[in-house]
Amino acid sequence: MGELSNQSTADGSPTLYSNLFKESFHSKSGAIAEARIKFLAPADVNHLNTKDKINVLDVCVGMGYNSACLLESISNTSLTLHWWGLELDPRPLKIALQSLDFTKNWSREILNNLESLVEFSEWNQKRSKGIMLWGDARNTIKQLPTNLKLDLILLDAFSPSNCPSLWSKEFLFDLSSRLSPGGKLITYCTAAAIRNTLRDLGLEVLSLKPSQEDKKHWSIGTVAIFRQGDIEVKTKNQSWVPLSPREEEHLLTKASIPYRDPTGESTSKEILIRRKIEQSKSNLECSSSWQKRWEKEQLIKSD
Ligand SMILES: C[S@@+](CC[C@H](N)C(=O)[O-])C[C@H]1O[C@@H](n2cnc3c(N)ncnc32)[C@H](O)[C@@H]1O
Repeated sequence: MGELSNQSTADGSPTLYSNLFKESFHSKSGAIAEARIKFLAPADVNHLNTKDKINVLDVCVGMGYNSACLLESISNTSLTLHWWGLELDPRPLKIALQSLDFTKNWSREILNNLESLVEFSEWNQKRSKGIMLWGDARNTIKQLPTNLKLDLILLDAFSPSNCPSLWSKEFLFDLSSRLSPGGKLITYCTAAAIRNTLRDLGLEVLSLKPSQEDKKHWSIGTVAIFRQGDIEVKTKNQSWVPLSPREEEHLLTKASIPYRDPTGESTSKEILIRRKIEQSKSNLECSSSWQKRWEKEQLIKSD
């Protein structure tokens, strides 16, 4: 599964670099900060539609930041949590649990749950239960109870170009078809291909707003909601907004062509080549020329 090396981040929380995927687990600005801002803030668990019990799936549990933050955020509520995790490699969670810079952030109860996942692949408390399914998420997702509907899916795979198998239309279908009415899939990913696929699969696609100080990014993530009938998605949270005109236009370029993995067994290379071929045949505008055109038009408007 490749070598993992330790890295530190700006907020002092440790992360890892995967030699196999050629990518860090978190952004340099902070692993805990990323979990809180990009996953837990939009998850807004206190306002999920289900009142007393929530079903959550953490896809790519890794070091466990997103789920530790989730457990922390429900600790002061009366919610009961049923949690499932999908992860290929048990080492990141083991490494995290051996690091004081990781463990110092969480209560003993939360750490007990994570430790129990490493040892027994589950935890079982009065108000929360967790089951970890180790292996390739494309396969293990099939082991979820057939009638399970999820209120929340946290999708934290490596980026589409490094781990396309977990961003394919087929895998996103497997995830989105598990959402309960009003349920949300949250990811840090803003790629046009992923947003376009989620919209194609019938979800409402929204953009996670960057903070006012962050002038570098148009968006820091995606929230996709399964709306059914007049289900109201209760929230006080205004961190997600409709896609801006720029984000919408991005979905009209070749960048929006989905990753495909029809058999669920393709290698990354096969998925990337398949998409390149699809892009070369497409009449859509190239995203680089669209980007230049868009920037030029904005300059003219601001003159
Ligand atoms: C960006 S890291 C996840 C970070 C994590 N959410 C955290 O808080 O530390 C991506 C994770 O995806 C896992 N992964 C890669 N390919 C996978 C696959 N096919 N199925 C399940 N997990 C996979 C890696 O082992 C790694 O732990």
